[in-house]
Amino acid sequence: MKKIGVLTSGGDSPGMNAAIRSVTRAAIQAGHEVYGIYYGYRGIIERQIEKFDRFSVSEKISRGGTFLRSARFPQFKDPEVRQKAKDILEELGIEYLVVIGGDGSFTGAKLLSDIGIKCIGIPGTIDNDLNYTDFTLGFDTAVNTVIDAIDKLRDTSASHQRCNLVEVMGRYCGDIAIHAALATGAKYLITPETGFDKDHLLNDLSVQNDLGIRYSIVVVTENMMKTHEMAQEIQSVTGIETRATILGHVQRGGSPTAFDRKFGIELGKRAVELIDADQCARCVGIDGVDIIDMDITEALDLPAKDKSKLIDTFIATK
Ligand code: ADP
Ligand code: F6P
Repeated sequence: MKKIGVLTSGGDSPGMNAAIRSVTRAAIQAGHEVYGIYYGYRGIIERQIEKFDRFSVSEKISRGGTFLRSARFPQFKDPEVRQKAKDILEELGIEYLVVIGGDGSFTGAKLLSDIGIKCIGIPGTIDNDLNYTDFTLGFDTAVNTVIDAIDKLRDTSASHQRCNLVEVMGRYCGDIAIHAALATGAKYLITPETGFDKDHLLNDLSVQNDLGIRYSIVVVTENMMKTHEMAQEIQSVTGIETRATILGHVQRGGSPTAFDRKFGIELGKRAVELIDADQCARCVGIDGVDIIDMDITEALDLPAKDKSKLIDTFIATK
């Protein structure tokens, strides 16, 4: 019998609950004990830890967010705080920890593994910015949320013949924007991978305006520009009435899609299999249709995925 802690950390993402349920049920069925840790790494230090039974995760699979709550806890970068976390977990007999989160959370998991707590990472973030896995948990739901919003914006933008600049999340990764722009038939796409040529955009829109084409959707990843200011600039330079829509945290919520529920379940199951095999500092993910696992350090060191084919497809079909 092993004692396994499970926590969610960093930005929440739809499907985290399915993963927590999967870890809990698979571990209990394998004869282990599971401890839910609330509020990410902070919950270890604050001892917000509860022993779970199989019913602790009942009726959670369809819910967005994370019922374990999440937190940003920068203090965890401090080695003394991590040592304290280790001492508390050891005192409770918790030798294994499943960390559901993004690259920051994985870095914490790696450092905690280095001092003796055996961590397994599950990629929970809407950003899809972990390079070892084709998809992260919550990305599919977030893209679908964005698509739904852009479809609605298209109705009003077309009615008024306006340009609409739609800012989506992703931190420094353009995947949400790329997938949503493709799926909604947007006219322009601006992401860290495409770069931003302002003169080109303004010139292109001006030419369109001269041709009487004023309606367009521009999808842009956050941190690429001051979106509201850019909308004003487009309007004043091109003469096209322009609005900016920053979709914000609505992208993080909502009931997970079928893909994210199934994905969360599969990731959780593989995490428990790794614990059964006494593995440490590994993370789980997906490659094609296969669930995979990899050393966390190796996974974090991988270069960014090549997005050029998808971007070319967008350009070729816009
Ligand atoms: P994400 O996991 O989604 O990338 P963050 O980057 O905010 O989100 O990281 C989540 C949490 O992981 C942080 O609040 C902190 O507790 C922990 N963390 C992040 N970076 C480190 C680090 N370098 N060392 C130790 N812990 C870290
Ligand atoms: O990492 C997920 C994410 O939603 C990013 O897309 C975004 O940049 C960030 O988190 C927002 O963080 P917060 O919820 O702390 O405002």
